[in-house]
Amino acid sequence: MYTVTFEDKENSPLKTEKLGATILETALKHEYPLYHLCGGNAKCTTCRVFITEGLDKLSSRNEREQTLADRKGWPSEIRLACQTEVFGNVSLRRIIKDNKDLRTVTSESKSSKTGEECYSVILFLDIKGFTAFTEGSLPYDVVFVLNRFFQEMSEPILNNGGGIDKFIGDGILAFFQMGNKKEAIKNEENLKKAKQETIRSAIRACLRMFDQLKKFNLEMKDRFNFTFDIRIGLHAGNVIYGDIGHSEYKSQTVLGDTVNVASRLEALNKKTNTNFLVSDEIYNLIGPSLSVNKKVITKLRGKSEKMTAYSVLGFKDLDSILMIQKSLDHVLENNPNWIQCYLDKLSSFVKENLNKNMIETEELLNPNEFSALIESIIEKLGNPESLKKEIIKLKSIYESFGITKKELPKLVPILISTMRENLPSEWNVTLESIWNQVITDLTIETIEV
Ligand code: FES
Repeated sequence: MYTVTFEDKENSPLKTEKLGATILETALKHEYPLYHLCGGNAKCTTCRVFITEGLDKLSSRNEREQTLADRKGWPSEIRLACQTEVFGNVSLRRIIKDNKDLRTVTSESKSSKTGEECYSVILFLDIKGFTAFTEGSLPYDVVFVLNRFFQEMSEPILNNGGGIDKFIGDGILAFFQMGNKKEAIKNEENLKKAKQETIRSAIRACLRMFDQLKKFNLEMKDRFNFTFDIRIGLHAGNVIYGDIGHSEYKSQTVLGDTVNVASRLEALNKKTNTNFLVSDEIYNLIGPSLSVNKKVITKLRGKSEKMTAYSVLGFKDLDSILMIQKSLDHVLENNPNWIQCYLDKLSSFVKENLNKNMIETEELLNPNEFSALIESIIEKLGNPESLKKEIIKLKSIYESFGITKKELPKLVPILISTMRENLPSEWNVTLESIWNQVITDLTIETIEV
């Protein structure tokens, strides 16, 4: 005889004699009120319960429950009463007790996160002096500029595997969730490596934002005679992800002390006259890779202990992705029409090797779009998922030139020589070997997709 104890004061433990009876079966047998809108078919999730004791006395999640739990990021304690069999004494709580709870749950979308904790890097960005711009500008221009700004600043975040939590006034709250979670929890070494990789992606995104800002400012100076500056705060730690809000207005939100610290570091930049402050958590994990110009010991608002913040200038060690991205920026500055050089070389290649004429196909291709695609591929090197989509587009362009998979490796030296010719002042052995490595890797991926 086992007991299933719901932690409601008015209910005594429910007894079950049937080994392997589900929690829902046991509840219904005792007429205990437990929502089960889909009739126990693992479809509605309204029967979900939180196990407070005896998790090891329950059956493991079956495939249907596991799929739901993965999608919603449930911790192991949240179980579907209709799918969970009981093999010992357990204590639990209902999650949905009344119609108000029910409305909250039934408003969840399929991919809603109902609460997941994960190590993440949190980024807070704010525009310095945006109020001065709003005061002297037309409302239309304010909205236009802010949207352009958010577009430019969000790209490096997304291109490096981050996500945008929300835009707050003239600021951005973004996150970088630790990847390789399953591998990371295997041992300390893996965990440290996974944290370092996540931090590196976040810092690369920030450095790229400063690069984007320079380009953005050239345009803003020209159009509005105004330039902007940004302040960034970066901290890492455990945060909670969940869909928060009214049942009809929910958005995924990231919560926790890590978020508050990142926000306070962003604000601290004002006092320390810096632009990019990272926390000691970040510095302790990848400090030797960073070039810093200031160390600030401070007590953040709402904190009892002092913490050290570091003003970051860049990477001290070599970051091949960032180097490639910056060198392509310089190619574009030197020769905005560089793509024509590449197309000319491709055309000769097609003629010599495939005995075809590329001119006709070339006429169908907009060189600016081709250039934008290559730029986009280079920008997305830090985000394998979105990179893949761009590689598929590139492959189909080459195919339209008549270039098959077999010939793709022969294009590597053609692209490299185009870069070299358009970047004579800073081209060197290191840069050439990085371009070579990256383009060779991309070619292998292009062949495989
Ligand atoms: S009753 Fe619907 S999921 Fe359990």
